[in-house]
Amino acid sequence: MSTTLSTVPHVLCAEEPLLPVVGGDLQVPLLDGSTVRFANLDYAATAPALASVAERVARVLPYSGSVHRGAGLPSQVSSALYEAARRSIGAALGARADDLVVFTRNTTDATNLLASVVPIGSGDVLTLDLEHHANLLPWHRAGDGHRCVAHADTVDGTFERLEAELRRRPVALLALTGASNVTGELLPIRRAVALAHAHGARVFVDAAQLAPHRAIDLAAIGADYLAFSGHKLYAPYGSGVLVGRRDWLDAAEPYLAGGGAVREVTTTAVEWTTGPARHEAGTPNLVGAVAIAAAFEALGALQPEARETHEEALRQRVLDGLAAIDGVDALRIWEGDGEAIGVVAFAVDGYAPGHVGAYLSAEHGIGVRDGRFCAHPLLARFGRTAGALRASFGVGSRAEDADRLVEALRRLVEEGPRHAYCDGPAGWVPEQDPRDLAAWTGLELGLDTAPATRSPCGNG
Ligand SMILES: Cc1ncc(COP(=O)(O)O)c(C=O)c1O
Repeated sequence: MSTTLSTVPHVLCAEEPLLPVVGGDLQVPLLDGSTVRFANLDYAATAPALASVAERVARVLPYSGSVHRGAGLPSQVSSALYEAARRSIGAALGARADDLVVFTRNTTDATNLLASVVPIGSGDVLTLDLEHHANLLPWHRAGDGHRCVAHADTVDGTFERLEAELRRRPVALLALTGASNVTGELLPIRRAVALAHAHGARVFVDAAQLAPHRAIDLAAIGADYLAFSGHKLYAPYGSGVLVGRRDWLDAAEPYLAGGGAVREVTTTAVEWTTGPARHEAGTPNLVGAVAIAAAFEALGALQPEARETHEEALRQRVLDGLAAIDGVDALRIWEGDGEAIGVVAFAVDGYAPGHVGAYLSAEHGIGVRDGRFCAHPLLARFGRTAGALRASFGVGSRAEDADRLVEALRRLVEEGPRHAYCDGPAGWVPEQDPRDLAAWTGLELGLDTAPATRSPCGNG
């Protein structure tokens, strides 16, 4: 029998982090006065920096100077580092020789950039209703129209619906997530590319969740554009990337007007440059670019499929644990047991998601996300307009994090929380919270009131 991911015995896997991350042993205070290692189960929102990324940034900082704007040595070094980062990111993603790698702030920025370059009159933009808002809202501005297709209960059924829409009217771009930010489920991107290309449409992959968890070969996948955020890829220094076909990018108006994007300017006219600089006006983010390149280097040095195996072990551990607790339901988009990255969405009967999130943090030192995950249409399809919870893993996660979550949820369901919580102006919080975050962290947090005088529930 061949060994598939789901048959890898998870008890033997993921006991230790795959790579060291900054803050991997962070201690946090609990409501009862004890401290515990923080279990970060919120990688899908923002992942911690890899230790190697932080080291690279520290090495580069002494040379930090103005990129493409100076004769001094730091400026020259910074310009070289910035362009080297661009090249190595393109190579890490398997970009085609003629693709452009454009630095952006994040995936949202990259998607808005792409939306601004879809040629007018070239056709509609198609998305599915399971997308993150970053891959829904920008398309309202693009092309002739945005059509949002309701996903079916199966992947095959969803593809049938996409195909029907592709046949109905010309489509310029099919914009799909590589992995759902809610459930982690993967869309078969190659299949989507084959379908779209057969109908003359290009494909954009929102890889905000995919890129941190899977190796990507853009040329092999055949997708035309792809975007991701550094802060989800263990490089939280303020940069993201849009990579893809040069023609639309070179032909469109610059995304931002300003210095660096031009060849010649008079008081009344401008000749814009082409290439990535056309859409990167303003002084570039050197550290953000270098950090993303360093992250790809570290991830690329792992054994092939090491990330998949590690995360799948953790995901199965959580799914198995949740399945054994009455009143805790995991959410899935499609029927069956298709592949997913290390993300599990779930709901707990009788508890608001924010209540559970506050309890997990305050009583167990666990960080998860609660809410609607910037995917309101999908949560509405789930019938979860009040939101849900999401646990997500990455290379810094370990089995103990998963076990702690399951045990904390079991105790919640069987015994209830030990402390009282309220839904205050800032969301769900403990009614009484003696912890002083500024004192604990030694950081100026700008919190107005000391814990003793705070009224987190808005009633005092
Ligand atoms: C699938 C997906 N797309 C896009 C985004 C937007 O990313 P950012 O907030 O970094 O722009 C996210 C963020 O959670 C995401 O999960």
